[in-house]
Amino acid sequence: MNNSPIGIFDSGIGGITIFNSIKKLLPNEDVIYFSDNLHSPYGNKSIKTIKELSFKNTRWLLDKGCKIIVVACNTVTTNSISDLRNSFNFPFIGIEPAIKSAAIKTKTGKIGILATKGTLSSSLFNSTSNDYASNIEIIEKNGDGLVQLIENGIFEGVEIERLLHKYLDSMIGKKIDHLVLGCTHYPFLNKILSKILPNTIKIIDSGEAVAKQTKALINKHKINKESNQGNYSFYCNGDSSSLNKILDKKYEINII
Ligand code: DGL
Repeated sequence: MNNSPIGIFDSGIGGITIFNSIKKLLPNEDVIYFSDNLHSPYGNKSIKTIKELSFKNTRWLLDKGCKIIVVACNTVTTNSISDLRNSFNFPFIGIEPAIKSAAIKTKTGKIGILATKGTLSSSLFNSTSNDYASNIEIIEKNGDGLVQLIENGIFEGVEIERLLHKYLDSMIGKKIDHLVLGCTHYPFLNKILSKILPNTIKIIDSGEAVAKQTKALINKHKINKESNQGNYSFYCNGDSSSLNKILDKKYEINII
């Protein structure tokens, strides 16, 4: 068990932002990454479909012998993590928009959240907002169209800028001081985001927090891989060009 890999899945390349944080914090651990990009994007799908896909991805990673599973997708976590935990007697780590952290840090009392429709409409997201941010103003925007562009390897340019202005200009106007990236694909836009956002607005994502939780869970279950540099395998069930674009050329990408 100790030498088994950590399994990570997402609807595409978004979870690579989480993989990068895990690799940094747990350099010895082996990782199997699965991109279900055949079914990307998840953000506008029904809860039923999101659940079905999350179960399929979980079974696939379990067949590969993973010791824990990181659901590197806010849309899946907020709609399906409790079902996954109830159905599989297995350790899962999920990712949710970092509302709590932004709510603690805000000075203007206004924060922005950019996430998928699936995440923003979920009961988990709404209960977390009520629990931690009931006394601050949250300006939510569905980042419709961004994931498709990112999956096509487009991280900057006219179309991305047009969409970001459409979603963020009203938040900027309302003087938010933190922007929560509630989708694991969005950190790929950090460069263009820092061009668009005034420097009074801080960008927050949950990548590091998820890596820390993964480490804590591995420690708790005493399933740490003892030595050696980690091995990484990448799989996708659609086109591999976006994974190819963002990963180091030394990694092989398997198409299933
Ligand atoms: N990366 C995902 C998330 O964090 C899914 C985005 C999508 O497929 O729409 O929500």
